Amino acid sequence: MKFCAWPGNEAICASLARALGAATFALETRHFPDGESYVRIAGDCGDEVAIVCSLDHPDEKTVPLLVLADALRAEGATRVGLIAPYLAYLRQDRQFKPGEAVSSRTFAKIISAHLDWLVTVDPHLHRYKSLSEVYSIKTQVCHAAPAIAAWIKANIEKPLLIGPDSESAQWVGDIAARIGAPSITLEKTRKGDREVEVSVPHIEKWQSHTPVLADDIISTGKTMLAAAKRLRDEHALMPVCIGVHAIFAGDAYDELLKAGARVVTCNAITHPSNGIDLTEVIAAGVRA
Ligand code: R5P
Repeated sequence: MKFCAWPGNEAICASLARALGAATFALETRHFPDGESYVRIAGDCGDEVAIVCSLDHPDEKTVPLLVLADALRAEGATRVGLIAPYLAYLRQDRQFKPGEAVSSRTFAKIISAHLDWLVTVDPHLHRYKSLSEVYSIKTQVCHAAPAIAAWIKANIEKPLLIGPDSESAQWVGDIAARIGAPSITLEKTRKGDREVEVSVPHIEKWQSHTPVLADDIISTGKTMLAAAKRLRDEHALMPVCIGVHAIFAGDAYDELLKAGARVVTCNAITHPSNGIDLTEVIAAGVRA
């Protein structure tokens, strides 16, 4: 298998290729003056290809990604897979209002029609139990929990793992169990895309611990911000905020830093806050 990186994914592509003993080849990409994408395969792609492309900003990336998959087949690839450490379009997994598009289904159909397999990390599966409910190609889900647990163990003294909402309870519990740390879950009410309220249960008995908020996606950052401010203002605790997928829409990252939080993310999406390497967990997923 040979690997190529969609621009922005070079570092994780190179370290995955190294971990798997695979070769890489280069791509040339740019935009025509009218905004259309130009893609050129600048090397021998071989028979079996893995494209490494995290799907943050998915609307910008999807068309050129499909163009690339098609071009690889024209150059002789017989199987073209996608390693998307962050997989987009999973949150609209049902109609919340009449007439709404269930974009997760459409996106999965498009990807399944053009790629042969998909490897991703902690996809936002909420009402879907597994990706196979919407993806018709072979999919492999990797979990960041072992890498996050190892990082916390090496860097945080007496951690108290905190999940910002009930959805996060299971995997925050998993991280905590790996390092023998306690964990609690907060209650979140989302009132709009950027309006989140979080309530903190009694945490007095954990006062000597370092709170570690862990969530799968940091998008607007409002979930992390609401939880961090509550911990700071009501309990004089400033947490370490850990996210798997560093989307940070708008000024989300700056706002969290301004609030005094230490922010550490996994390298599923390239971002200055990346401190937790997912190479091993993704490599294991590709092997599988
Ligand atoms: C929600 O279901 C997710 O697990 C995250 O809590 C959510 O996506 C975070 O979004 P935001 O950063 O916009 O509050």
